[in-house]
Amino acid sequence: MERAEIRVLDSYTVHIGQGMLKEAGKIVSEVVPPCRAVVVTDSNIPPEYVQTLEKSLEEKGFEINIFTIPAGETSKCIEKFIEIQNFAAENHLCRSDIMIALGGGVVGDLTGFCAATYMRGIKYIQVPTTLLAAVDSSVGGKCAIDLEKGKNLIGAFCQPSAVICDVDTLKTLKEEFITDGMAEVIKYAHINQPELFEILEKTQDLTQKIKNGTDGKTAIDVISKCVKLKADIVQKDRFDLGERQLLNFGHTVGHAIEAASNFKISHGHSVAAGMCIMARTAQKAGLCSRQTAQKIEHLNKKYQLPTATDIPLETLWELIKNDKKNATDGLTVVFPTEHSLCGLHKLTHQKFKELLSAGLEK
Ligand SMILES: NC(=O)c1ccc[n+]([C@@H]2O[C@H](COP(=O)([O-])OP(=O)(O)OC[C@H]3O[C@@H](n4cnc5c(N)ncnc54)[C@H](O)[C@@H]3O)[C@@H](O)[C@H]2O)c1
Ligand SMILES: [Zn+2]
Repeated sequence: MERAEIRVLDSYTVHIGQGMLKEAGKIVSEVVPPCRAVVVTDSNIPPEYVQTLEKSLEEKGFEINIFTIPAGETSKCIEKFIEIQNFAAENHLCRSDIMIALGGGVVGDLTGFCAATYMRGIKYIQVPTTLLAAVDSSVGGKCAIDLEKGKNLIGAFCQPSAVICDVDTLKTLKEEFITDGMAEVIKYAHINQPELFEILEKTQDLTQKIKNGTDGKTAIDVISKCVKLKADIVQKDRFDLGERQLLNFGHTVGHAIEAASNFKISHGHSVAAGMCIMARTAQKAGLCSRQTAQKIEHLNKKYQLPTATDIPLETLWELIKNDKKNATDGLTVVFPTEHSLCGLHKLTHQKFKELLSAGLEK
């Protein structure tokens, strides 16, 4: 088992290991005394995970109420938010009670936002069951729901009280979602994790080892490396005003690809293409070497992730310029600078558009 400490104002531990669902009762009781808990999960999560978690918590004296949302991004919406809050109120949750997210990033983001706002905020626990949620969304305290106008438009920064990552749950995850999570793993390798880069480059069948490794070692190692890097960055910049923006590598263009495709191209695939486009942009602007850009492309290919997009600049640009992260006078973008290192660059919209048009060429 691996642990990562997230030392923000309200510190918490990320527990990463095998058989962790059975340990949930013990871990949760270390951060909150036995109380009522609403467990939010989705319709694709195998029932045995829900039962194991429930049993483990009940053995420690927690009273469990389960709320299941339909699987998929469309559940990260205001209607489900209201249903969960009503469910919590009907089950008499008070300020000392908790919510628990058992699922991927959709369940995690929605539950986190419900907990952040129910009775002005109650504690919650993240139990990620996708690779993406394990390496990214369950850690760092960003939670949100979507509006018709766009993703994550209502949200909060609200750290969980603990994260419990049971790598055994990845065994039932569909291949496409493992690949999607790998894009975020690759992102960490490029930001500042040369050791992870080497693992990604040299290991044969890494995705299979993460998904089906019998001793869980590969998954624990890869996930904990990602979480430790994210912890390091989040600790220094909790509210995403500086260094945390490095975690957006590939995301400015990636989000535009995702939205332009009407979310048919998944987040991980869009971000993967975004990283390569930014690498080519940086290379053409003289900010990184050809060799660095090629290494980024090579890793995407190895993990069957895209390296480019056919969506035209003007379509992407309409979406990039309206990104909620933009300031009025321009935007901060993440460019790779050298092997396994990225930097932040503040550019005017016009300048970035010019550079990007070169980066979009294949
Ligand atoms: N808060 C953050 O910092 C942050 C960061 C990145 C992404 N996100 C958000 O995360 C969401 C995407 O998360 P995701 O990729 O985990 O998607 P997801 O939650 O939709 O899960 C993907 C699919 O896998 C299924 N599933 C989950 N765990 C399973 C398991 N163990 N076995 C079988 N099936 C399982 C789900 O039901 C779903 O169909 C997006 O809404 C995105 O905005 C948030
Ligand atoms: Zn992402």
